[in-house]
Amino acid sequence: MADFIQTKTKGDEYEIVPAKEYPKSYKKTTEVAQKEQEDNARPKIKNKLPDVSKYDTIFIGSPIWWSEYPMVVRTFLDGVNLNNKNVVPFTTHEGSGLGNTTETLKKQYTRAKVLKGFSVSGSDAADARSDVNSWLNGLGY
Ligand SMILES: Cc1cc2nc3c(=O)[nH]c(=O)nc-3n(C[C@H](O)[C@H](O)[C@H](O)COP(=O)(O)O)c2cc1C
Repeated sequence: MADFIQTKTKGDEYEIVPAKEYPKSYKKTTEVAQKEQEDNARPKIKNKLPDVSKYDTIFIGSPIWWSEYPMVVRTFLDGVNLNNKNVVPFTTHEGSGLGNTTETLKKQYTRAKVLKGFSVSGSDAADARSDVNSWLNGLGY
């Protein structure tokens, strides 16, 4: 999805890479992620944070984990300043859609304009280019 957005918007792309890999097993990952959420953890990011000051609009996407952004995305959100910018959530999911991501962004960045997000089920993501483009058209791209 991020690549589809990048192609259409011609923006720069940054990948949040967790410093510690998650378990290979899906079930174990759900357990680790649940604990991180319960602990309100801020897992470390491996790569350097981008300088977001030069951007007007930032798309923030991830898989939905327990109805939310994975906590490592919260580490990212704490490490940058998105106030006075347009911020746009996008997610892959298995039923939760955007989950609470829009609310999370609004709560943390009260002076950002949070635009209409978009979600697609994980299994449909690879074929979602035209749906992503329609959504972006609606945002004015
Ligand atoms: C830790 C964890 C928690 C998840 N929690 C949710 C959830 O609350 N709601 C949901 O719709 N999907 C949930 N999922 C499914 C992921 O969103 C899904 O795996 C992801 O979007 C990628 O899709 P794919 O596995 O088909 O590639 C969870 C997956 C993991 C690993």
